[in-house]
Amino acid sequence: MKKLVALFLTATLTLSMLLSGCGAAGGNGGSKKVGVSMPTKDLQRWNQDGDNMQKELQAAGYQVDLQYAANDVQTQLSQIENMISNGCDVLVIAAIEGSSLGEALDMAKSKNIPVIAYDRLLMGSDAVSYYATFDNYKVGTVQGTYVKEQLDLDNAAGPFNIEFTAGDPGDNNAGFFFNGAYDVLKGYIESGKLVVVSGQKTFEEVATPSWATETAQSRAENILSSFYASGTDLDVWLCSNDSTALGVENALAANYNGKYPIITGQDCDIVNTKNMIEGKQAMSVFKDTRTLASQVVKMVGQILNNETVDVNDTKTYDNGVKVVPSFLCEPVFADANNYKTILIDSGYYTEDQLK
Ligand code: BGC
Repeated sequence: MKKLVALFLTATLTLSMLLSGCGAAGGNGGSKKVGVSMPTKDLQRWNQDGDNMQKELQAAGYQVDLQYAANDVQTQLSQIENMISNGCDVLVIAAIEGSSLGEALDMAKSKNIPVIAYDRLLMGSDAVSYYATFDNYKVGTVQGTYVKEQLDLDNAAGPFNIEFTAGDPGDNNAGFFFNGAYDVLKGYIESGKLVVVSGQKTFEEVATPSWATETAQSRAENILSSFYASGTDLDVWLCSNDSTALGVENALAANYNGKYPIITGQDCDIVNTKNMIEGKQAMSVFKDTRTLASQVVKMVGQILNNETVDVNDTKTYDNGVKVVPSFLCEPVFADANNYKTILIDSGYYTEDQLK
């Protein structure tokens, strides 16, 4: 009889854990449900972000509704609306286009569902409760400072030739990355120590819609054939992230025979890290998606428990309607010399993944 009761209790407990989505011990999420909306599966980082968020939220006892929107704004809108209709208690959104989710955000607001902007700020809405990201301006300054130090711009005679490739104009981060890098290099461009041979140096001129590798590649091909075909050396191609850096690297491989330039990136994607090891990309800014996911899971808990939410920046991120209280994680610089410590010893990648 005792055995039967024990069996019944175990079965009931397991069933209730399953129903509440409580996949791991020690969680305190109860039956709360978190909707996580990611922009696309095309880029490695968002898959990692989604996986980390799901794992961590489930470990904390939450149910998770994780959706990827295939870089299509309408898809993301309807996925978020479904999350709301399906009873999510908190929404975590990495927007494809920061200003295009107004309808879904209004719907969340009307149901008092808190919204956390994930990595990219949600623009033009007061329905955004918090923002968690990396220090986006600092990502750019890390890239710019790398170039400045590698070329020893304060001492070397120069001039050095440079080109820029930035990100998607619909992504609020893209301007921060570009401005951070440009602000470090501006003085040298003005003094003529750095020369932008194509003349393209405003964000609008160097932006890459959707952060697409192919778009970055075809722009780089045009620049190489128009300005570097007759033996002009290129010293630096400052790229805001890895997907665009990859486009530039592809273009260089097929269209350029001069001195190989310093190329910057961001995300430490596997292909780009391999390129760093092979000398085809000089550096990448590492943003540990595990850190961001942990921070967001912590915020979710604080919001749902009516606790003070951890933020460390209440000035920088104005979305046009309000300054969104933010938590900024620290980006770190990675290159061929330190990648083993930063990426392998930390368990982010295995050695095999980088072979
Ligand atoms: C992210 C970058 C990423 C880019 C393209 C940005 O919003 O912060 O890490 O490389 O989007 O997906």
